[in-house]
Amino acid sequence: MISDDRLNYKILPFTEDDIPEAMDLKNALGWNQTVADWKRFLYLAGEGSFKVLIEYRLAATCFVFIRDHIAWLAMLIVKEEYKRRGIGRALMEKSLTYCKERGIKLIKLDGTQEGYPFYKRFGFLDEGAVGMFKGKIGSLDYVRSLASGLKPKRVEMTNLEGIISIDTEAFGVGRAALIERLFVDYPESGFISGVKAISGYILFKPGHHSYQIGPLIASSRMEAEALLDAAIERIGIENRKADICIYSLLNYPDAARLFKRKGFACVRRLIRMYKGENVLQGRENMLYILSGPEKG
Ligand SMILES: CC(C)(COP(=O)(O)OP(=O)(O)OC[C@H]1O[C@@H](n2cnc3c(N)ncnc32)[C@H](O)[C@@H]1OP(=O)(O)O)[C@@H](O)C(=O)NCCC(=O)NCCS
Repeated sequence: MISDDRLNYKILPFTEDDIPEAMDLKNALGWNQTVADWKRFLYLAGEGSFKVLIEYRLAATCFVFIRDHIAWLAMLIVKEEYKRRGIGRALMEKSLTYCKERGIKLIKLDGTQEGYPFYKRFGFLDEGAVGMFKGKIGSLDYVRSLASGLKPKRVEMTNLEGIISIDTEAFGVGRAALIERLFVDYPESGFISGVKAISGYILFKPGHHSYQIGPLIASSRMEAEALLDAAIERIGIENRKADICIYSLLNYPDAARLFKRKGFACVRRLIRMYKGENVLQGRENMLYILSGPEKG
């Protein structure tokens, strides 16, 4: 048991039994994650899944996703009544030690406005802005740009290898486990494009409030648009009133312009931050939509 002057609390491994309380924690913030998302976080972060208990109740969560030499820190949430009492610090120190023990050289995250001053205190630096875009079926323009000649095809399990290959090129580090798990959780919820080899792909999934599209990786703006149109059209078939949200790096204006043209509006900004040697070498101009604010 760790204690300070004000609180007694424990940092313990997060388990599936914590998910109902974790849903309450993130619902209080209006976030979009579902039960399936928490299960996937646990699966992907493994021993890097932490929680804080106070009087046997969930008071905070934090996940560290490790991919090769980099770590992604996410879902750091402290329950409102326990904020500003050192719990965030304790979880951050636990996560930094966890990363150090595993030889991690770079930690990244997409910080909220509230998290930003907190992360600054731990030496995280700004890398750029991430926009959260929202749109609604009915007010989005997704008339297929068939003139481009690009006809995206529904994803199949056999596409996995090709998708992982293009994703690694764009993202700069392999995230096969994430993509494989998205395929299993949401089969056929995506499209691919490309003539001989896969040159672009898009995935989507239902969220707590809105559908979330991402990742979208494409080799050109026309390809990105064709994939995005296909995904929006498909979501519209599943739910004619669906809200859709997407997260994208704002330092690549081509993507933001495309979303605005389709009818999406940028409703919120996050700050991409890093700590350590920022050696991630991807191709950001292919990275139109992120997998989400939790995992880059
Ligand atoms: C951001 C968050 C995790 C901080 O947790 P916390 O338990 O309140 O933080 P701590 O009490 O451990 O604070 C650690 C340090 O950060 C500072 N800090 C914490 N929140 C701050 C804020 N909103 N503004 C300025 N400084 C802040 C504290 O003053 C403290 O500094 P000090 O050690 O120099 O005194 C918490 O506010 C939260 O859960 N917010 C909602 C969810 C969220 O946005 N999470 C970030 C996801 S990317």
